[in-house]
Amino acid sequence: MKKSIIASALIGLGLSALHVQAADNELNLYSARHYQTDEALYSNFTKQTGIKINRIEAKEDELLERIRNEGANSPADVFITVDASRLAKADEMGIFAPVKSKVLEERIPSHLRTDNWYSYSTRARLIVYNKDTVKPEQVQTYESLADPALKGKVCTRSGSHPYNISLGAAMINHDGVEATEKWARDLVANFARAPKGGDTDQIKAVAAGECGVAIANSYYLARLMNSTKDEDKAVVAKIGAVWPNQKTWGTHINVSGAGMLKSAPNKGAAVKFLEYLASDDAQKYFANGNNEWPVVESVKVSNPALDKLGEFKADTQPIGNLAKSAAEAQRVFDRAGFR
Ligand SMILES: [Fe+2]
Repeated sequence: MKKSIIASALIGLGLSALHVQAADNELNLYSARHYQTDEALYSNFTKQTGIKINRIEAKEDELLERIRNEGANSPADVFITVDASRLAKADEMGIFAPVKSKVLEERIPSHLRTDNWYSYSTRARLIVYNKDTVKPEQVQTYESLADPALKGKVCTRSGSHPYNISLGAAMINHDGVEATEKWARDLVANFARAPKGGDTDQIKAVAAGECGVAIANSYYLARLMNSTKDEDKAVVAKIGAVWPNQKTWGTHINVSGAGMLKSAPNKGAAVKFLEYLASDDAQKYFANGNNEWPVVESVKVSNPALDKLGEFKADTQPIGNLAKSAAEAQRVFDRAGFR
């Protein structure tokens, strides 16, 4: 009698009842992250909870396509990916279910979570310049990259890449649509070459002198700075890095994030996993796996490159706002010819 009352009360509570449900003993994880330290991240979860993780790893867009095709029958419980604009895309597809969790609310700062997904690590988009051809004073802001003084010096990956789309979204939210479109147009006019390659390619082209300045995610620079290879050391010796917009809205931040799927067959395990990712140990593994920063403020990582790059003021606009402006940013870049 008592039991059934408790059970029906829990059903009435909906998602919060998941915490007390008998633990699902398997978790199907669709992940676009694959770094070596992630192995320990997953095996520790299994050790702590007895929940086995079945991992499907692929490129972000492939996983999303797969989830779309599988529909309501998808075995996926949790989707992990990088970049707010990709998480936004997933969210727009309606694949996530909100998770009510005190643990997540307490540990993840409010600007780094949305109703449907959570950030677990942050990376910054910074400016890298060639010390021989560009002065750091010239490139203190993202906006400054559109300055005609930098004509023929700017390099970047494609304007349709999520990393640039998210930066564009941040700029739209701070500077407005019109200013961001003008910025993109003037940025294109400053290009040393048509966009090609990834962020590391831009950094290397800056070191080689083909470009004077480029935009790159912090972990690519950190990877080169932590490298013991002579060729990487030579690249690092040639370049300087700037935390953009320290006197204005702060350096643009992006995230790795995860959410529980609406169709998740193991919702109890999914919530446990999302909470585990916010634990001290998991935060360290998660951040260290890709030279990123933990989102939980009390968790500190020691990474020689990140320590060397030092403290900076990060943009604190809610990550959900970035996500909301991503589609607009794509249209703005298209109009400006930043492709
Ligand atoms: Fe990346």
